[in-house]
Amino acid sequence: MPEQRSILITGASSGIGRALALAYAAPRTELALIGRSAERLRDVAAAAKARGAGVVTVQLDVRDRDAMHAWIAARDAARPFDLAIANAGISTGLAGKGLCEEPEAVRALLATNLLGVLNTVEPLIGAMCARGHGQLAFIGSIAGLRGLPYSPAYCASKAAVHAYAESLRGRLEERGVLVSLVIAGFVKTPLNEKISAAKPFEISDARAADIIKSGLARGKATIVFPRRLYLAARLARLLPPRLADRLLAQFDVNVPETDERLRS
Ligand SMILES: NC(=O)c1ccc[n+]([C@@H]2O[C@H](COP(=O)([O-])OP(=O)(O)OC[C@H]3O[C@@H](n4cnc5c(N)ncnc54)[C@H](OP(=O)(O)O)[C@@H]3O)[C@@H](O)[C@H]2O)c1
Repeated sequence: MPEQRSILITGASSGIGRALALAYAAPRTELALIGRSAERLRDVAAAAKARGAGVVTVQLDVRDRDAMHAWIAARDAARPFDLAIANAGISTGLAGKGLCEEPEAVRALLATNLLGVLNTVEPLIGAMCARGHGQLAFIGSIAGLRGLPYSPAYCASKAAVHAYAESLRGRLEERGVLVSLVIAGFVKTPLNEKISAAKPFEISDARAADIIKSGLARGKATIVFPRRLYLAARLARLLPPRLADRLLAQFDVNVPETDERLRS
């Protein structure tokens, strides 16, 4: 694989996206970093520049399809992307013993975790295929492998991202564009810290970024970590569904409701 030089990362102001920006930061690498917090983007940019990377940051809401298209297409025309990582995401859940998630929070989550991903890659698919070169990376989750009773919308959003990435892969790879799906377990980040649960095999954001970077460099179709939790989730799918429901109900997990709303 050619060495990657022009890289787009959404959700680069925090957590896994920030760690990826720093992992890729090196001389002769151009990073285009998307997030909403100007202050945190500035901090990441300064750290990446200190490692020798060229950095451009932009405050964009991944839910804003027109703004995303305009900026990403213009940047790609000026400095064609070798790699785009659709990482930005939020979580929400059934607080306590709630039965149904707050509808506007659910819509904000789907607009970010699913539509935001489409808004990231749609401007690039045609251009990358025309060049016969490029790589699209999608940050999925082990929570996308099976619905969990604590966070229905989050699981649904990640399952949709998995299916979307898999579907694209078959069509794009024959045109020279690699598609990689990251199926991540617990990573210590601000998103994850809000969740109260046992977090088996949790790793740091820097370690996650190293695993993702190395998997992407090898052009892997799926990058899975930690493998033991991934296999447990795959096994859970083989159980009779109601038995799996009963087992999952035993875990004490609290995923708080997001503050994000589509309409206030
Ligand atoms: N941490 C885990 O255990 C874990 C496990 C599996 C998968 N993941 C996935 O990994 C990805 C990164 O999560 P993280 O844990 O690193 O969370 P994080 O630290 O909260 O970072 C989330 C990033 O997404 C950005 N973001 C959120 N909404 C946005 C919007 N509307 N427009 C633009 N940027 C937006 C945030 O930027 P601003 O705040 O600046 O907008 C921030 O940079 C997510 O897709 C998450 O679902 C995480």
